[in-house]
Amino acid sequence: MVDLEAEKAAAARAAAALVQDGMKVGLGTGSTVAHLLTALAERGLSVRCVSTSPRTEDVARSLGLEVATLEDLGRLDIAIDGTDEVDDTGWLIKGGGGAHTREKIVAAAADRFVVMADSTKPVAAFTWPVPLELLEFGLSSTISLLGEAQLRDLPRSPDGGVLAFWRGDLTDPAAAAAFLSSVPGVVDHGLFPPSMVSDVIIARGPEIEHRRLA
Ligand code: A5P
Repeated sequence: MVDLEAEKAAAARAAAALVQDGMKVGLGTGSTVAHLLTALAERGLSVRCVSTSPRTEDVARSLGLEVATLEDLGRLDIAIDGTDEVDDTGWLIKGGGGAHTREKIVAAAADRFVVMADSTKPVAAFTWPVPLELLEFGLSSTISLLGEAQLRDLPRSPDGGVLAFWRGDLTDPAAAAAFLSSVPGVVDHGLFPPSMVSDVIIARGPEIEHRRLA
């Protein structure tokens, strides 16, 4: 029986080890990031962090990590986050927790974007639907243009966005991402391209696989 929490903790420790004293660090959201926050706090480094969700911010502060705004910090040295799935080429589906818009902004603001994964996350072909954040204005029209989209039973994002899933064809993630970005009313979607990803750290039991993409 796979101990997923142990895998998440192992991936998080490996990712936290990449952070150096004085760095500006982007923090993702989710259960793997919860382990990262503990591992990072335990290192006792002097780092300044940007959070992608109120949840992450609260926990980071409670562990003694300094949290500032992206406006204050500007370009980040590193951002570290979990993922819902990662394919063989490094495409990600993120946003299971509804935080993908902020997560993508923070990943794009970092020189190095490190993704942590337990053994359930690598896939040959995506099985997850793509999380979407949508503007409330014109919501029915946006949903109808998207086709195959359903609202999620989740509170709005901290930025007021409505959360949905898109269940369209993902055989070509780049084409799907381009389509989703083309629909007015889509704030952002949870497909992250390999060009955004620097490292994927995968824990399988006690083994760590470190894939470097850039
Ligand atoms: C949050 O919205 C997501 O993008 C998470 O980063 C992703 O769902 C991974 O979460 P877990 O680490 O909880 O699996």
